[in-house]
Amino acid sequence: MAILITGGAGYIGSHAVLELLRGGFDVVVVDNLSNSHEAAIHRVAELAGKPVPFHKVDIRDRDALDRVFGTTPIEAVMHFAGLKAVGESVGQPLRYYDNNIFGTIVLLEVMKKHGVRTLVFSSSATVYGDPASVPITEDFPLSAVNPYGRSKLFIEDMLRDLCRAEPEWQIALLRYFNPSGADPSGRIGEDPNGIPNNLVPYIAQVAVGRLPELAVYGSDYPTRDGTGVRDYIHVVDLVLGHIKALEKLATRPGLVTYNLGTGRGYSVLEMVEAFGRAAGRPIKHRLAPRRPGDAAECWSDASRAERELGWRATRGLDEMCRDVWRWQSNNPKGYA
Ligand code: NAD
Ligand code: UD1
Repeated sequence: MAILITGGAGYIGSHAVLELLRGGFDVVVVDNLSNSHEAAIHRVAELAGKPVPFHKVDIRDRDALDRVFGTTPIEAVMHFAGLKAVGESVGQPLRYYDNNIFGTIVLLEVMKKHGVRTLVFSSSATVYGDPASVPITEDFPLSAVNPYGRSKLFIEDMLRDLCRAEPEWQIALLRYFNPSGADPSGRIGEDPNGIPNNLVPYIAQVAVGRLPELAVYGSDYPTRDGTGVRDYIHVVDLVLGHIKALEKLATRPGLVTYNLGTGRGYSVLEMVEAFGRAAGRPIKHRLAPRRPGDAAECWSDASRAERELGWRATRGLDEMCRDVWRWQSNNPKGYA
């Protein structure tokens, strides 16, 4: 029996496929390649020393998805497929609702048709909206501050409703904080389209000379150095958390929700320093106004995952920066 990975050619999905293969699981990947390259799949296969069954399928294409379920015995789904750019979601809300929400509905219906009722869902700390305090526990109030966040929150609500109505579903909602890092091989990593929105890929592109300098958004926050604080989690730790969640679902707990973070925050300037150490060169940066909508601090209380899954992040900041730098310096233009 295989684990179906939707969005398995993407940044986090490709790392999940690799760790699942390394852990002895069988996988099958679907991805429409709207934000990824098939090369990622080939590289994962090369690193794992095993072929990766891949179908170029859009999860909204019910017939195509149905054929994948019809030809491969699937026991569970890890659902990474989705659009994730906050700014883009503000300009194109319908595209985000169609892709993320409608795509998930089709996936759930096809799963149900084939008797597959175990799902690990990629949620986000964005469902906490603008948190009133830190660290953030899973019981904090939920809200959405943009269409991307609303799509994640709606999917979470939908999955809670589904589990209430049909108790045979086993679902894990995993709320990621700030995934970063790459497989230590330097063969796979984050390859954003165009100019990166997120801090670490931006810094990496400054370090490699693709971008001239980083704008530090806000230096007057009530934080230790005035810049924003976030919980950066190594992508390998993150995907190992998914495997622990899958093991948890095998005990039939119903619906479970976990923060996947490290439980500590770093400021933008601390990230600039750390990346500079990893790359062996200073990261050119300037202080700039705040980015609208940003919280001063966002970091997790990840103790529930530690208690209930026996999981915690073990990879530190320097290791994360070194791994990003290995990927970026070996692949200055990403997969292209
Ligand atoms: P990504 O864009 O690298 O990966 C998503 C993959 O899904 C891509 O390969 C894309 O081609 C595919 N995809 C999108 N729509 C699809 C569709 N309709 N049918 C089939 N494939 C489709 O993003 P990522 O960073 O790997 O994120 C994976 C998941 O984790 C997303 O759901 C994202 O919202 C969530 N998440 C990411 C972060 C982050 O900072 N990277 C944080 C929180 C949550
Ligand atoms: C992002 C997402 C959010 C998601 C969260 C966790 C955006 C706009 N928001 O937010 O929906 O829930 O990840 O996955 O994508 N920064 C700079 N200069 C830059 C880029 C960022 O100073 O060029 C700062 C930001 O102000 C922030 C920190 O770096 O303080 C991290 O930013 P980013 O990587 O975009 O992550 P989040 O803001 O946490």
